[in-house]
Amino acid sequence: MRHPDPNVADAPVRSDPDAPVEPRDGEDCDYCGNKRFVLDAQGNLKPCPKCDTAQRWKLASLASFSSRNAFSSKQTFVNFKTSFSGVEDETLVDCLESAEAFANNPYGRWLVIWGERGSGKSHLCAAVDNHLTQAGIPSLFITMPDLLASLREAIELQSNTEQESFTGRMNVFKTAPVLIIDDLGAETSSPWSDSVLFEILDYRYRNRLATMIATNVNPDDFDYRIASRMQDTELSTVIENAAPDYRRRPLSEKR
Ligand SMILES: Nc1ncnc2c1ncn2[C@@H]1O[C@H](COP(=O)(O)OP(=O)(O)OP(=O)(O)O)[C@@H](O)[C@H]1O
Ligand SMILES: [Mg+2]
Ligand SMILES: [Zn+2]
Repeated sequence: MRHPDPNVADAPVRSDPDAPVEPRDGEDCDYCGNKRFVLDAQGNLKPCPKCDTAQRWKLASLASFSSRNAFSSKQTFVNFKTSFSGVEDETLVDCLESAEAFANNPYGRWLVIWGERGSGKSHLCAAVDNHLTQAGIPSLFITMPDLLASLREAIELQSNTEQESFTGRMNVFKTAPVLIIDDLGAETSSPWSDSVLFEILDYRYRNRLATMIATNVNPDDFDYRIASRMQDTELSTVIENAAPDYRRRPLSEKR
């Protein structure tokens, strides 16, 4: 079919379903024939394990929703301190070890870290996100206020363009291979935001999708349906970060 704009190349004809797709990105791949996806034994489409191009597309598409920034990109496990003035802080060791364990094998697991302001929760979320991204695993690090803002934007777009943006964006959050939600409970909650959160977490819970949550709220104090899923001992590690506010530590302790 000829494109109405003469400056735009002809749209590709897809009459033959087995015809190789033009390599939009990456090398030619003899394993998937540049389709970038392959069928597994169950008949589900999976990113081609050989060229990994679909995996990189996924990484790039999730990045557009991320709350990652220049500051959080520098927060790592290595620069997370667990000892101050020569004294090891057990709670920080536990949090660091749980975050590292999750980052090394996130699949089928949830990690919930809760605690006071400045105790290092966001630092560990960013460290997990950075670790996974370096390992080429598509993860989405987003604060709850950013997640809700993104959904509100999608509703706005949808009413202007009749696109199904809201459902599409919900699916991003429901199905991201690894979802890291920071500042859960920091949003101004409403029946709408509660139902959105429940839909995302319940989907991820039922499908055992890797999820990390950081919050100031004691998990017992969430809506009971969310509190119960968060604390399922078969799936989830819940850990309290009881460290004092790092921001207010004397400068001498931060070096
Ligand atoms: N153990 C630590 N080692 C090094 N830096 C830390 C540590 N804990 C916190 N920080 C730093 O202190 C600042 C505040 O930490 P962070 O943002 O992770 O706190 P938080 O628990 O998310 O707080 P809030 O509840 O206010 O969001 C960040 O710059 C972070 O890098
Ligand atoms: Mg934080
Ligand atoms: Zn391939």
